[in-house]
Amino acid sequence: MTTPPPRRIPLLDLKAQYQSIKSELMEAVERVFDSQQFILGPDVAQLEKELAEYCGAGYAVGCGSGTDALYLALRALDVGPGDEVLTVPFTFFATAGAITNVGAKPVFTDIDPATFNMDPAQACEALRRNPRIKAVLPVHLYGACADLDPILEGARRAGVAVVEDAAQAIGAEYRGKRAGSLGTLGCFSFFPSKNLGGAGEGGMITTNDAALAERLRALRVHGSKVRYYHDEVGTNSRLDSLQAAVLRVKLRHLDEWTQRRQAHAELYGALLGGSGLPIQLPRVPDYATRHVRNQYVIRAARRDELREFLGARGIGSEVYYPLPLHAQKCFAGLGYQAGSFPVSEAAALEVLALPVYSELTEDDLTYVAESIRAFYEGGLR
Ligand SMILES: Cc1ncc(COP(=O)(O)O)c(C=O)c1O
Repeated sequence: MTTPPPRRIPLLDLKAQYQSIKSELMEAVERVFDSQQFILGPDVAQLEKELAEYCGAGYAVGCGSGTDALYLALRALDVGPGDEVLTVPFTFFATAGAITNVGAKPVFTDIDPATFNMDPAQACEALRRNPRIKAVLPVHLYGACADLDPILEGARRAGVAVVEDAAQAIGAEYRGKRAGSLGTLGCFSFFPSKNLGGAGEGGMITTNDAALAERLRALRVHGSKVRYYHDEVGTNSRLDSLQAAVLRVKLRHLDEWTQRRQAHAELYGALLGGSGLPIQLPRVPDYATRHVRNQYVIRAARRDELREFLGARGIGSEVYYPLPLHAQKCFAGLGYQAGSFPVSEAAALEVLALPVYSELTEDDLTYVAESIRAFYEGGLR
């Protein structure tokens, strides 16, 4: 008979967060029900205002999901059939899925092994070589900004737009400026596991360009600026009032939750840094001046065995992401092979996300760190 693990530390526990703000949430939800206004409406408009300010952007436009945010952003830039969009293969599928769904072709460029984000030198080289690229789509993976200055400069020289995939990086800063305020457009997700997560699907696009904001507001309601009159074909991607009301409550707590995530990352660093174990802790480059720690991802030798071992000790972990996008079946037609992006391919075999949500205790983190040590050193303490 196997003994049950002494404790249970899931990768993410949203119940603890919910309990801590339940009355505020219920009040907000009741207000929406009382109004019986469920689509867009004052809560969405207010959230857009608050989030534009939070992200340091001129405008924010709410939409149905982070995937839709990417789709709408590319549509607003008139990216479509015949165009190519430069992005990384080491990201969540939606990044490249949205490119395909506007009719364009994803073109991949490899990541920097230290940060898991777009390698700016390789990206700039691709921009110089390939005139079909109409936009660059760097991803701020795990909550830290990609190295944007050289990417913005390369894009400027090539005359193309930069769309930030900031789905995992709300509040993250690049040299003191917020994610979503640096590129032409910034895309966010309110998927429940994000740092600012809704009670369902939701997303947002930020920009400093008033004309793009106006176009996005039309694209999310079937391309209509005046009701029942359509200048172009858009889609239905409206943010719900209920989501906006929930997100507005959570936004009030976001900085405090982020600070706790950051403290947890520091503690992992203290517990596991210089341990001599065959793991590599996440490195934060100087330019990533505010890492919001959506995920705490280590590189680990014998990663899958470690994951299993942690699971048996009640510790949740996850692999973000096990198969780079250039190797996905649906993208076989793009013509990439195994070995096309060696840094992404190596990362996919080694990365492991550990629990870092804000309600974790010092004891929890110590238990995770001790378990990792026990795996490599053998024997439990
Ligand atoms: C990097 C990245 N891009 C895009 C998305 C898509 O967001 P959503 O799930 O809200 O459609 C996500 C989140 O799931 C993500 O992590």
